[in-house]
Amino acid sequence: MNVVNSSASLWWREGVIYHIYLRSFADSNGDGLGDLPGLIAHLDHINGNPDALGVDALWISPPYPSPDKDFGYDVADYHNIDPRYGTLSDFDRLISEAHKRGMRVMLDLAINHTSDLHPWFLESRTSRHNPKRDWYLWRDGRSSGRPPNNWQSVFGGCAWEWDQTTQQYYYHMFLKGQPDLNWRNPAVRKALMEMVRFWLDRGVDGFRLDVFNLWFKHPDFPDNPRRLGVRGFSRQHHLHDYDQPEMFDALAEFRSILDAYSQRAAVGETFGPDPWRAASYCGDDKLHMAFSFEFTECPWQPAAFLKAIQRWEKALEGVGWPCYVLSNHDRPCRHASRYGGRYPDAVAKVAATLLLTLRGTPFLYYGEEIGMPNVPLRRSQLLDPVSRRYWPFLSRDSGRAPMQWNTSPNAGFTTGKPWLPVHPGYHERNVAAQREDPLSVFSFYRDLIRLRRRSLALRKGSYTPLTSHPTRGLAYLREAPEEQALIGLNFSHRPFRLRLDYDLIAEDWAVALSSLSDSTAVIAGGEIKLGPHEAVVFLRG
Ligand code: GLC
Repeated sequence: MNVVNSSASLWWREGVIYHIYLRSFADSNGDGLGDLPGLIAHLDHINGNPDALGVDALWISPPYPSPDKDFGYDVADYHNIDPRYGTLSDFDRLISEAHKRGMRVMLDLAINHTSDLHPWFLESRTSRHNPKRDWYLWRDGRSSGRPPNNWQSVFGGCAWEWDQTTQQYYYHMFLKGQPDLNWRNPAVRKALMEMVRFWLDRGVDGFRLDVFNLWFKHPDFPDNPRRLGVRGFSRQHHLHDYDQPEMFDALAEFRSILDAYSQRAAVGETFGPDPWRAASYCGDDKLHMAFSFEFTECPWQPAAFLKAIQRWEKALEGVGWPCYVLSNHDRPCRHASRYGGRYPDAVAKVAATLLLTLRGTPFLYYGEEIGMPNVPLRRSQLLDPVSRRYWPFLSRDSGRAPMQWNTSPNAGFTTGKPWLPVHPGYHERNVAAQREDPLSVFSFYRDLIRLRRRSLALRKGSYTPLTSHPTRGLAYLREAPEEQALIGLNFSHRPFRLRLDYDLIAEDWAVALSSLSDSTAVIAGGEIKLGPHEAVVFLRG
């Protein structure tokens, strides 16, 4: 199927999106870093044939030239590909090869800040009178050598960096190598919007917007009020350094650019934990979707997930479409490690069923389809500055390890030295082995995605929770006019009968998929009978 010519269903609503951390996916030239030719060579794993995972779109982490202070989220040139990842023509090839296989491509857009080596910043810092000076946020300090205000960097410490040459401070919400752009300067906004068109013209189907709700800061730079009793960045109420009202006008402009092309979509990484805030950025003249990361904070308890789902559904009611994520490149722990315990594969299948059967777009993080766990790292092996700073409490590196393809050295990721260590368990857990095993996590993901693809109830149906006080399991209903799906999830390793809020008529339901090969799941007397860690999808209609 060629997606470019396919008739337009809303791919971003009905599809499954696969998040590729490019430098860890597949290395084609032995330099230890994943790259675009490596990714292209592995597209058949993701879609384009009956044995593939079967997702609808890819989101690629930033491939632009970068000094890698924040591993690509510090961009030094928005119009190019880092030579370590390939070339612009490799990127064009990725788009056409992905499209041939029925997949869209979403590009990561990190435009709150640039690298301090971006030519714009290099110019900006040369003098107070340089035309690019106002492209960044430069301010005088307060008296007695204090920075312009009390704003903090989310990565730790003061958000203002002193520049000796021009005797002013510049603002950086993240590392000092990531100066924030001045979105209030029309020339900045114009340059960024033109760059968005540049990628759309190359055939990119959409974007993931990095920390978009930080674009605007209060124009007067007042101090944030203090909060008592907590440490670091959370020691302040962040009233002035993000979520400013001017955001909406910029999003409307961004959206109008997307809408001038056919079938393009954007998902935003909302900075901050509040689902209502995230929802406020979704809509017809805003983003198609915004992330709420509550699932990544949930303990393995059905009540916690139910609460997160209810909050997200409520926040988005009438305004937007949900999306869900269990793991990503910023979370210190992949969910296989967070939840796996003694039964990693069984738990991975229950988690996958939850993610892929809720109302909303599921985002998968590379490797979760084989239940990839965190790689154990010593402090000396950490590369990410945030991980190094907050070790041992947080390590983003542990969830960014190379993909485990097969049993060859370095899991088939590279013939060289991998940039981060490969998980030592790759001999047992890898794509090649799991493809051969009909009971593997991979086979289950593939079957689940196939089921979702053919089920109108799962792709489009409404959502009704069926277990209002869950202790060991969750059930919910997905209803479309043509079909209904009922999902039952056992979060524990003991078989049990999950009591439903409503006594559903049992007869018509048929098991469409279970995570257990010897499932005896049935609905009877207002209960679902579930085996140990069983995830089951019933259909009727
Ligand atoms: C986003 C990215 C993260 C990066 C940060 C600063 O949160 O996901 O990896 O460190 O932005 O750019």
